[in-house]
Amino acid sequence: MSNNPIGIFDSGVGGTSIWKEINALLPYEDSIYLADSKNAPYGEKSEEHILQLSIKNTELLLSKGCKLIVVACNTATTNAIAHLRKNYEVPFIGIEPAIKPAALNSQSKKVGVLATKGTLSSSLFNSTSEMHASGIKVLEQEGTGLVPLIEQGKVESKETKELLEKFLTPMLNAGVDYLVLGCTHYPYLIPVLEEILPENIKIIDSGEAVARQTKSVLRKNSLGNSSKEKGKHQFFTNTNVAVLKSFLKDVDEHIVVENMDF
Ligand code: DGL
Repeated sequence: MSNNPIGIFDSGVGGTSIWKEINALLPYEDSIYLADSKNAPYGEKSEEHILQLSIKNTELLLSKGCKLIVVACNTATTNAIAHLRKNYEVPFIGIEPAIKPAALNSQSKKVGVLATKGTLSSSLFNSTSEMHASGIKVLEQEGTGLVPLIEQGKVESKETKELLEKFLTPMLNAGVDYLVLGCTHYPYLIPVLEEILPENIKIIDSGEAVARQTKSVLRKNSLGNSSKEKGKHQFFTNTNVAVLKSFLKDVDEHIVVENMDF
């Protein structure tokens, strides 16, 4: 089992930002990535629908022998990971907005969170936020419309920049000094965000923490790959291969990117 691949899924291309962190930390692991772009955005769907999609992705990864699953999507994690953990035997790693480090380090005691509607409305997000941000003002902003633009590859478009400006203005006026990116698609917006945000505002996401957690869970469960050769990686999308490839163009490893109906 330990030489089997790690499974990773997201509502689309965004989870590749997490895959890159995992691959940097665990270069000898093989992986299978599912981009469920056909069903993006998850963030506007009901909890029940997000759960059904998460089950579908999980079962496909398990049928391919995955030894551990990374839910590389804040929306799927906050709405479905408890159910997945209860119903399947493999370990699951999830991702949630990095409220804790932002709240601990904020000088202004005001932090902004940009995430999907599905994440911000989930009870997991709200309990985490309550637990880690007491005494801190958390300005939540739904990023409605951003995921579809990123899924079309329009990361640096005028439309994307205008939408971000609209979303960030209330936080900037309120005086936040941290912006938490609570969606795995959003790290791809960092170059545009840096054009908009003043230099004193720090941007944080949870990608590195997820990779560290993946490493630690593999070790604890004796599931680390014993190979000393670079991992093999398969990426599947149920829509556009060219768009998924464009988010992987900076990857040196040998990867296979294919279309699959799922
Ligand atoms: N990458 C997903 C997340 O982290 C995007 C959700 C969506 O498809 O709306 O939340």
